[in-house]
Amino acid sequence: MDKCAPLGVYDSGVGGLTVVREIRRQLSNEQIIYLADSARLPYGDRTPREIQFFARQIITFLVSRGVKMVVIACNTSSALALPIVRKEFSLPLIGMIEPGVKAALRMSEEGKVGVIATQGTIDSDAYGRMLREHGVQVYSQACPRFVPLIENGYLNSTQMAQAIDEYLGPLRAAGVDTLIYGCTHYPFLDGQVRAYMGEIKTVDPAVEAVREAGRCLAEMDLLSPGKKGQDLFFTTGEPEEFAQRGARLLGEELGPVEHIDLSVEGCRA
Ligand code: DGL
Repeated sequence: MDKCAPLGVYDSGVGGLTVVREIRRQLSNEQIIYLADSARLPYGDRTPREIQFFARQIITFLVSRGVKMVVIACNTSSALALPIVRKEFSLPLIGMIEPGVKAALRMSEEGKVGVIATQGTIDSDAYGRMLREHGVQVYSQACPRFVPLIENGYLNSTQMAQAIDEYLGPLRAAGVDTLIYGCTHYPFLDGQVRAYMGEIKTVDPAVEAVREAGRCLAEMDLLSPGKKGQDLFFTTGEPEEFAQRGARLLGEELGPVEHIDLSVEGCRA
């Protein structure tokens, strides 16, 4: 495997850009190939079978583009598909859940951890199970309105303020000391969440996940010595729309964005 081969990254939409941001910060020599499955967003209320089917299609596509590793920059896919697809592909796959749990265990002083995520991730109990194994008290909350609001740019809107109050009110009342952003879209709400929750630690699993990706690449002697090409972005939706939304949220240009039809690319599902 070529050390300069790109890293594959995917999400249902712009959420995985919080992971791209972290890769650009921690692993700046790595070229990224990103896929946003915008046409099938949101993933949060999809069945496990659908999420697994999408994961196979997308990983197959990324492999066909020569990636050396895939970072599943989507908690729903990490919770519902990663344990299955890990057995089906030979390249390393990095998910969000374990790194998020590790970071929360390190940060929480009182052992009262809130998890906010999509309905699918909360129903899977992937975070809850792992945290409780470490004796942590877990307060889980699905936040189904967050993703559509973030995707459509309503970060500072009345609708968002109402959703924050509805979803985070019970966690604030329970006195959680640490809050995991169990959906890659949510770190874009960090300012609003901190303002609402007051003194609290927030966990963006991307930070630890990218650290793990770096460790894994180093172990396999696959860290790139220097970036060969620019980052490439694909969306199953509208490229122009994705480029604009992404650049606005990330605060920098993404790079070229192309439309991709995964049913034409072929898949093994
Ligand atoms: N950003 C994804 C996650 O981390 C998916 C959100 C969605 O499409 O519902 O779960």
